[in-house]
Formats: sequence, structure tokens, C-alpha cells
Amino acid sequence: MKSVVLPSYNKNIIRAMLGLKVQDIDPPVPKVDEVVIKIHASPVNPSDIAFIQGTYNIVKPLPAVPGFEASGEVVDAYKNTSDLIGKKVSCFVQNDDFGTWSEYVVANVDDIIILKDEMNMDQAACFTVNPFTAYGLFNIAVLRETKAIIQNAAGSQVAALIRKMALLNDVDVINIVRKQETADKLVSEGVKHVLVDTDENFESQLKDICTSLNPGVAFDAVGGKLAGLMFNALSDDSELVVYGGLSGKSIDGIDVMDVIFRDKIISGFNLIDWKNEMDIEEFNNISEELQDRFIDGTYSTAICGNTSLENVVKGLRAYISDMSKGKLLIVP
Ligand SMILES: NC(=O)c1ccc[n+]([C@@H]2O[C@H](COP(=O)([O-])OP(=O)(O)OC[C@H]3O[C@@H](n4cnc5c(N)ncnc54)[C@H](OP(=O)(O)O)[C@@H]3O)[C@@H](O)[C@H]2O)c1
Repeated sequence: MKSVVLPSYNKNIIRAMLGLKVQDIDPPVPKVDEVVIKIHASPVNPSDIAFIQGTYNIVKPLPAVPGFEASGEVVDAYKNTSDLIGKKVSCFVQNDDFGTWSEYVVANVDDIIILKDEMNMDQAACFTVNPFTAYGLFNIAVLRETKAIIQNAAGSQVAALIRKMALLNDVDVINIVRKQETADKLVSEGVKHVLVDTDENFESQLKDICTSLNPGVAFDAVGGKLAGLMFNALSDDSELVVYGGLSGKSIDGIDVMDVIFRDKIISGFNLIDWKNEMDIEEFNNISEELQDRFIDGTYSTAICGNTSLENVVKGLRAYISDMSKGKLLIVP
């Protein structure tokens, strides 16, 4: 089968991408509890970019096939899972031997979601990670009963889903992006509170809007100085939830007095831990609810285009130059 193969990690993203090759590798043979999925499409996520740079928390032995998420159809299975053959699925696979930027992938049954028939397979390619992440993060705001949240990297697909959830729950969102063009795009879509962190008045704008809206939760995917500013701008008894490290920088400038005297905390969110903390029935209920929302069009992931396995380098270059445009799908 054809797969994208990464021969070596490289912190320089351009060099890491240029090293990618398409190769024929041995097709997967399912072991106990495993299925083989013929891939419909696999997205490019920030975690994939960090993976090929060797800076993600998953480091596979090389050469490795990148890609952690996909949609497709089960075409083969071990005998204890053979009833799944023919099912349409989304999968999240962090397997050393296979990745989803490929024609086929092998997945453990615990790492697949069986899809409703009406699920669009392009949307399903991006279903196992971001919608559940947005759900888990937004639930923190629900539990804290806050009426406003702050989020950075607000042009991302996770942020777009959080905005949708907030709208349905009457929660205000203070959106922070790094480029004016992303802010303009969000405003043209009707998004209300959008700040650009490179604006010279950004800090005072953030303070002013937080004084008026009293956000009780902030979602940070960036780190660095921005995360510190978001923390300091939160109201009393609040939480900064760190779920990404896009800037590659440590969080900076946290006001110590806020931590000691204003009941403000910092926490981390990791989708896999969140999933492992709940029983399968609870997870399946959330999955059903999210699928229904995708099927009726309430939620969606913006997709900026497709690329073949052979054109992956060209596609990746386009994705990293404008990540807020939407997901690039790799279609074998
Ligand atoms: N913890 C978890 O379990 C978990 C699960 C899923 C996702 N995540 C994280 O969630 C974040 C969003 O993922 P996604 O798939 O929704 O992203 P995405 O749709 O691919 O978009 C990436 C976004 O990040 C922005 N960005 C990139 N580098 C940045 C930087 N240095 N500073 C500020 N903004 C930057 C991009 O803005 P430009 O257009 O300006 O480049 C773009 O809006 C990522 O950090 C991802 O790793 C975490």
C-alpha cells in the first residue's frame, strides 16, 4: 500500500516536510481487537506538524508514517472484531507502525468511532479529535457557570467549534488571533469580540473587554506572553486551561498575587486523558450528540482543500501558510 513516509525528524518545518516521501509499505495485518481501515481522508492537524518536527509527545521509531486521524471503511479485521467489516468509521491512531497519511491503517477497536450513515466522510475525517476537544474544553466553562470565555488561536477549528457551543449556551467569547486578516475574516462571519495580539493597544483592549464581560475561563493554545496576559485578565475564581503550545514558548508573566489571593488556577487539557476518565457509555453519548450536530449542520469543520499522498509536501506548505483557512485533507 502507498503511504507517506517520514525518514527523519527535523525542527525546521520546511526541511521536515521536504524529507517526506511516498513509499509502498507492507499492508497491515490485524491482530486481536484490531481492524484495517481503507482510508477515505486524513486531515493535517498542528499535532502532525509538531510530529514531523520531532517536537510532539508522540515520537515513533523511524522511518514512520505520519497522521493520527482519519475516516474510512473497515475492510479487514481480526476474528473477534469481524462484525465491524463494512462499517464507516472515524479513527484516532497513535500506532508506532502505521499512520493515517496512507491508503490503509490498522486501529484498535477502542480507537474507532462507528459512524451514523448520514455522517459526511470529509467531516468524519476531522471528527475524533477537535469536536471532542472543543466539547471537553467548553464543558469546563459550563461547569464553572461562566458567562464569558477568552480563547486565543481563535482562527482555528477547535476555536470555531467552541464559538458555536458558546453561542448555543449564551456565553460570550473574547477571540484573540495573531493576524489582522484572520480578525477581518471572523468579523465578516459575524463574530463579535475579536482582538489581534499584535495590535499596539492589545493589552488595554483585552483589559477593557474583560472588565466588561468578566470571563471565568480562558483556553490557551499558544503559550508565551499571550497566555500570561489572558490569565491576568481573567476575573477572580477563574481558570486558564492550556491545551496547545503553538508558539513553542513557555508561559510568561503570570501575576503571582492572582494565584495566591484571587483563586485563579492554571490547568492542562489533553483529549486522551479526558476520554480515559469517562466510561464508554458516557463517551458514546457525547459522540452521538456530536454526530447529530454534524449531520444537521449545526457544527462543521472548515475544509480548505484536498491533496493526494503524492502532493503532500505542496499541500502542507499551503496549510502552514494559512492555517486559519481550514483543514487540508490528505486523500489517498
Ligand atoms: N490538548 C488536546 O487534547 C488537543 C486536541 C486537539 C487540538 N489541540 C490543539 O488545539 C489547537 C488548535 O488545533 P486546530 O486543529 O483547531 O488548528 P487549525 O484549525 O489547524 O488552526 C491552527 C490555528 O493556530 C494558529 N496558530 C498557529 N501557530 C500560531 C502561533 N504561533 N501563535 C498564534 N496562533 C497560531 C493559526 O493561525 P494562523 O492562521 O495565524 O497561522 C490557526 O488559526 C492546536 O494547538 C492543537 O494542537 C489540542
